Amino acid sequence: MNNDYKRYLVTSALPYANGPVHIGHLAGVYVPADIYVRYLRLRGRDVLFIGGSDEHGVPITIKARKEGVTPQDIVDKYHLIIKDSFERFGISFDIYSRTTSEIHHKTAADFFRKLYDDGKFIEKTSAQYYDEEAGQFLADRYIIGQCPKCGNDSAYGDQCEKCGSTLSPNELINPHSAISGSKPVLRETSHWYLPLDRYETWLRQWILEEHKEWKTNVYGQCKSWLDAGLQPRAVSRDLDWGIPIPADGAGGKVLYVWFDAPIGYLSNTIELRPNDWEKWWKDSDTKMVHFIGKDNIVFHCIMFPVMLKAHGGFILPDNVPANEFLNLQSDKISTTKNWAVWLHEYLDEFPGKEDVLRYVLCANAPETKDSEFTWKDFQTRNNSELVAIFGNFVNRAVVLTHKYFDGKTPQAGTLTAYDEATLKELPAIRQAMEAHLETYHFREALKEAMNLARLGNKYLTETEPWKLEKTDRERVATVLNISLQICASCAIAFEPFLPFTAGKLRYILAQNKADWEQLARTDILMAGHKLNEPQLLFNKIEDADIQKQIDKLNATRTAATDEKGKGVVEPQKTACRYEDFLKMDIRTATVLEAERVPETDKLLKLKIATGMDTRTIVSGIAGRYTPGELIGKQICILANLEPRVIKGIASQGMILMAQQPDGKMKIIHPEERMDNGAVVN
Ligand code: 2FM
Ligand code: ZN
Repeated sequence: MNNDYKRYLVTSALPYANGPVHIGHLAGVYVPADIYVRYLRLRGRDVLFIGGSDEHGVPITIKARKEGVTPQDIVDKYHLIIKDSFERFGISFDIYSRTTSEIHHKTAADFFRKLYDDGKFIEKTSAQYYDEEAGQFLADRYIIGQCPKCGNDSAYGDQCEKCGSTLSPNELINPHSAISGSKPVLRETSHWYLPLDRYETWLRQWILEEHKEWKTNVYGQCKSWLDAGLQPRAVSRDLDWGIPIPADGAGGKVLYVWFDAPIGYLSNTIELRPNDWEKWWKDSDTKMVHFIGKDNIVFHCIMFPVMLKAHGGFILPDNVPANEFLNLQSDKISTTKNWAVWLHEYLDEFPGKEDVLRYVLCANAPETKDSEFTWKDFQTRNNSELVAIFGNFVNRAVVLTHKYFDGKTPQAGTLTAYDEATLKELPAIRQAMEAHLETYHFREALKEAMNLARLGNKYLTETEPWKLEKTDRERVATVLNISLQICASCAIAFEPFLPFTAGKLRYILAQNKADWEQLARTDILMAGHKLNEPQLLFNKIEDADIQKQIDKLNATRTAATDEKGKGVVEPQKTACRYEDFLKMDIRTATVLEAERVPETDKLLKLKIATGMDTRTIVSGIAGRYTPGELIGKQICILANLEPRVIKGIASQGMILMAQQPDGKMKIIHPEERMDNGAVVN
């Protein structure tokens, strides 16, 4: 590590706030970034870890249109889900903000304006598709037509999702607008372009000559872009969602999302450190590192640096350690096909197992090539590595210390050659970890941390202190002292990777704080230092838990097949007796009032007229229906469901919904309006 740097500004790609984050995002970007910043902090470096949601761009407007809500509704919803799940997962951002913030709008607009005033843009007019019925220009994604390559009738203006071809809108056969369905016409429009081609010589020198140390996948991608020759890139769009262009004659135009998003790193730093943000962005003794996925390389290695250079006064990234992609069970992760493991669902379904996922994603990180997550591998790594090696070692060392020495660190006696050989390995592991962490080789660094646990586990197994207690208490004391020192080193070495476990281990060892400088020392715990009670660091994951996840993913596939009009849905449940069915009191009812339950995403509180009474039902349908859509609707309810208290509200009954395996849900109504309280059977 170049220790001449005084501070580290670490950024991680701002995820689009149009869906939750999944394991692909985590393995590619957030887990490595978090490991890096936790390591730097452990070494006492001055670090800022900047994150936030990317809340502009066409896909957000498309999603909003589909759901009949505003783009702001979409980003409000997902920003909260993403922020909350990152927090629960221990991604230790110093700030997690958003690009719809006021400060970001101002920072990005000022940035554009400076480049505009300094004459850094070129203005060009071109013909683009315009929807005369909707009265707006159409983003490529809003133009649908037949794919010239495979004949698919619903290819988008930028891509055919059936054959995967990249397209431009004028290649589509019979193009029509996704907004009104009408045939779009070509109309002239002018935009501002950043002339990337003018920076080519500078970029070649800066990347290809001065940053040969960048990862080969990053360097290689930059080189092929540069070798192909750069083109001016439009930084404005005709769209009504985004940051308005601060220039005369720019009505109806906003900043291109890839112009404003990276400026989000700057805005979020200003938001976090209003008084001293400049030193983080302008002093050459700040090291800036961008963690991203491979699809973002061109924007972070070419476009953003050109923007910073054109603006002047800013430092450039020292490194952009982009990762490749993570596949899931032999297939590409796909948000649209719901082929993913979503972080918020994992956190709910595997409570207390944040570190297991962090471990597996780092051990399998797509650092140099695409890699794969499978649920079986997740189980094996937990059971055979975390439980059997790390957890087993720590548990044996601590339990034996409680058993033989009343939980107090025993004094070591004379060391044997084997003890010395074991201890000699510690500094070598530390050095290897440092070398790997400083060069963004997190997989290798984690392997070394695991080697530490493996070393301790082997040491205990081979010295067998439990056999010596009666005959050689001094030897037992020495072995346990050494084992506990290795445990204490593990609590430091694993902190960047498995922060929850490292915290738990520190508690067991009664250690306040991890300090990298102590790693590999043999006197971390003084003789007589009292430990806390042992507790297991990890638990076995059973086959049934894994099967459940595999079934859940496979159900996604069935749902996708069904959508194409093929097979069936959920398998039928086991038979139930008619008498059992009769126990359910199902009635027609009408929604009188509806409101969101504060601080929840899914819950609505409904006041219902049942014909028998007026009652309150809390229902998890806020993601599907707005309160306004429900008021006055006739529904069916399970009236005699035992009352439950949900978020402090007594709920009396349940609303009946039809649900598809792909998650689509609709309320059940009688065919025509009936009296409330009519019995359904
Ligand atoms: O690919 C993405 O998810 C983008 N939203 C990343 C933006 S990174 C940065 F520029 F903000
Ligand atoms: Zn096609």
